[in-house]
Amino acid sequence: MRELFDVSGMLADRAVRVVVTCGTGGVGKTSVSAALAVTAAEAGRHVVLVTVDPAKRLATALGLAGLGGEPQPVPGISGGSLDALMLDMTQTFDDAVRSHAPRNRVDEVLRNPFYKALSTSFSGTQDYMATEKLGQLYERSLADGRWDLIVVDTPPSRSALDFLDAPARLDRLAEGPVLQLLAPSRGPLKLIGTGLSQVTWLISKIIGSKALSDLQVFASAFETVMTGFRRRAGVVRTLLASPAAAFVVVASPRKAALDEARFFADQLRGRRTTSRGVVVNRVTPPVSLSSGDEAALREHPEAYAWWRGTWATWKAQHERMLTALPASLPVALAAMLEREVTDLDAVRELGLLLAGGVGLAEEHGTPVVDI
Ligand SMILES: Nc1ncnc2c1ncn2[C@@H]1O[C@H](COP(=O)(O)OP(=O)(O)OP(=O)(O)O)[C@@H](O)[C@H]1O
Ligand SMILES: [Mg+2]
Repeated sequence: MRELFDVSGMLADRAVRVVVTCGTGGVGKTSVSAALAVTAAEAGRHVVLVTVDPAKRLATALGLAGLGGEPQPVPGISGGSLDALMLDMTQTFDDAVRSHAPRNRVDEVLRNPFYKALSTSFSGTQDYMATEKLGQLYERSLADGRWDLIVVDTPPSRSALDFLDAPARLDRLAEGPVLQLLAPSRGPLKLIGTGLSQVTWLISKIIGSKALSDLQVFASAFETVMTGFRRRAGVVRTLLASPAAAFVVVASPRKAALDEARFFADQLRGRRTTSRGVVVNRVTPPVSLSSGDEAALREHPEAYAWWRGTWATWKAQHERMLTALPASLPVALAAMLEREVTDLDAVRELGLLLAGGVGLAEEHGTPVVDI
């Protein structure tokens, strides 16, 4: 038996404060995130589930009409509690300004045309906003204790891991030439700040006096915002590198997805984060039959052909998993459900499979699921 990825142990571990799922497209990251969040919440934890993926899949999986940028309670959860939200990049940037800019300047900054231009181009950088949002949620969870677990569903790409590097990239960006120019205490705008009249006169002739005063407002608030932004990114960096963060790699039994899972696990190890294991989702469960039952089934050619087919599929999947996944990687298997994960009951069902602790056996003949 390969080492089992103990999903329920991970969710019960109160020291785990953040679970991040990652994996290639379409393998079930969103469904697995929802299943982990619902299972943890129904086991008594207070969970907030955030999806960085702009697609509506998470809302659909939770049986909700939609999700916004603010946490909203998921109805029908017993035990603990579950709130869910979708990353809204512009709103996150505005919230960052609200919490980091000087209080009396917030409205002025939010209305400022330079800020608007920057926030729409800059907030396109999903990783920074995901980092900021995670930081906001984490600090809020520490401050008011509303949540004790944050589950993060990442978008479908290898670059999902880029958000781990976002704090470092933010430092480089802030130290880089473009933002240095904008920094009022260091760059040329220092001259504007100190009101060097000839320079401001000249600039106002070039860009117009309205634009100049907009730029002054923006520049003076900008450094404070950037400083706050970087401080929070630092908190996230420390959090993600600590044992309080657990990464879950999701794969399907297809070769490409398994290879990607191995890639993700290697990347996570390289970044010194804690990858708890791999969930191989949508595995075809073999049905084990006694020889008597098998003989009886032969009398029904269609059913017998189906049984042989699922067994052959399982065997092929099993071999692929053993070959593609390194023996050192703990694995949990989740069977293909008979329906899509589009309501809370299906999410719960997937959660039960994950928490049920079905591992990868060396022998394919060992039944994964007895039915
Ligand atoms: N165990 C399962 N059994 C049956 N259907 C599943 C299972 N897991 C996921 N699905 C279905 O597979 C599809 C893809 O799942 P999901 O959206 O969770 O994947 P994803 O990795 O988040 O995709 P993307 O990369 O596009 O974000 C969905 O239609 C979902 O309902
Ligand atoms: Mg998804």
